[in-house]
Amino acid sequence: MKDRTTRFLNLLALLVTVLVAGGCAREEPVSFRQAVKPVLDQYCVECHQEGGVGYETAGLDLTTYATLMRGARNGPMVIPGDSMGSNLVVLMEGRADPSIRMPHQSREKVSQAQINKIRLWIDQGANDN
Ligand code: HEC
Repeated sequence: MKDRTTRFLNLLALLVTVLVAGGCAREEPVSFRQAVKPVLDQYCVECHQEGGVGYETAGLDLTTYATLMRGARNGPMVIPGDSMGSNLVVLMEGRADPSIRMPHQSREKVSQAQINKIRLWIDQGANDN
């Protein structure tokens, strides 16, 4: 009886290991160029480039990796490893004041799936990949 319990527990441990390892393996690196930049280009760059209202008001240029990481006049908008604290997604998710949701109220929202990719990219270290 004791043997069977031990065997069962070993099997369970193995199963958990496989599931956890499998879960991690599936979290592939998110590419800045493939998953992040196209979203910024589509929804943000129109205002967040030199001469645009977002750049003039906040000092935030979203045209390249380098300018994104430089951040706004107020400071960095992406904190590598900390998507919860990165204003880029805070504002995209409307977690700050709704009046400053990005893009603004009247515009088409970025989908949650796209935001989740950007979050994951930040949590993976916000690499220039
Ligand atoms: C219609 C123009 C417009 C678009 C489109 C736009 N923004 Fe903005 N953004 C602004 C303006 C203007 C501000 C300054 C705050 C305000 O007045 O709302 C701003 C501020 C910000 C800030 C805060 C900067 C700071 O100093 O704290 C972030 C982050 C931001 N935008 C990100 C984005 C992202 C990401 C997108 C695309 C998903 C986007 N914006 C799309 C105009 C725009």
